[in-house]
Amino acid sequence: PRKIIIDTDPGQDDAVAILLALASPEELDVLGVTVVAGNVPLPLTQKNARIVCELAGKPDTKVFSGCNAPIARKLVTAEHVHGKTGLDGPVMPDPTMPLQDQHAVDFIIDTLRAETAGTVTLCPLGPLTNIATAFQRAPDIIVKVQEIVLMGGAYFQVGNITPAAEFNIYVDPEAAKITFASGVPIVVMPLDVTHKALTNRARVEAFRNLGNEAGRMVAEWTDFFERFDKEKYGSEGAPLHDPCVIAYLLKPDLFSGRHVNVEIETTSELTLGMTVADWWGVTDRTPNAMFMGDVDAEGFFALLTERIARL
Ligand code: BDR
Ligand code: CA
Repeated sequence: PRKIIIDTDPGQDDAVAILLALASPEELDVLGVTVVAGNVPLPLTQKNARIVCELAGKPDTKVFSGCNAPIARKLVTAEHVHGKTGLDGPVMPDPTMPLQDQHAVDFIIDTLRAETAGTVTLCPLGPLTNIATAFQRAPDIIVKVQEIVLMGGAYFQVGNITPAAEFNIYVDPEAAKITFASGVPIVVMPLDVTHKALTNRARVEAFRNLGNEAGRMVAEWTDFFERFDKEKYGSEGAPLHDPCVIAYLLKPDLFSGRHVNVEIETTSELTLGMTVADWWGVTDRTPNAMFMGDVDAEGFFALLTERIARL
């Protein structure tokens, strides 16, 4: 199986992504789950990550707590989307599995140093603070990363936290800039893709009817999460942003996009955190990321349902 580190700020959609990965041990070896502040502050995201690992029946998963604030800015959170706990919806028991003692950034650095070069994939599902901090502190690990597959950014389907910026990139644009300039091969799941991976009644009921706890939780998280998008965008359901990252690792053919240059805006007040993707190739800037644009939503939900059924 492919070795991955999931870097996350759960978040209902992060939670579904973690479930998808832990339900796929034949393809994915989750070396660790590193947690960052984002949707809600760090004490909640680290707790939520453990709740989700326990729900998956994998309490032996290593969960590491990381950075509690962006590199150069104050933390912006998203309780308006995810609720006060970050995992609002069903009432869930407090986790009993331990949090690892090591800091997430140290875990990322040590793991990449110990593993053979080109064998570990990083899967960031939140602000890129932990990843960029690791790269800054230990630049020698950069060449050892196989690939970064991340959820963040937008191009045609511009922002969800400001008119120009997507939440994960906006929260820590300096970290995003460091990551996109690192030279590591990057695959981006922007809002353009995730707003095509929308829940609807049939898809949510399929989760609820799986007959297991995980399916019921996914349905209840989605019920909560949908409220925001229905009101805000008038869409039928909610975008399952972060699971797109894990789905890509399992079935890359579900997605299509372009290998383009992506730069991160870090100074403009109006467009802070914008992912400036050269989709039409109008500059001679070197492509640094596979920027996805489309997803086979039916195939995506079929995969998700089939895997959640295994938990
Ligand atoms: C991203 O922001 C968070 O609210 C979600 O978990 C996702 O990672 C979408 O913009
Ligand atoms: Ca997230």
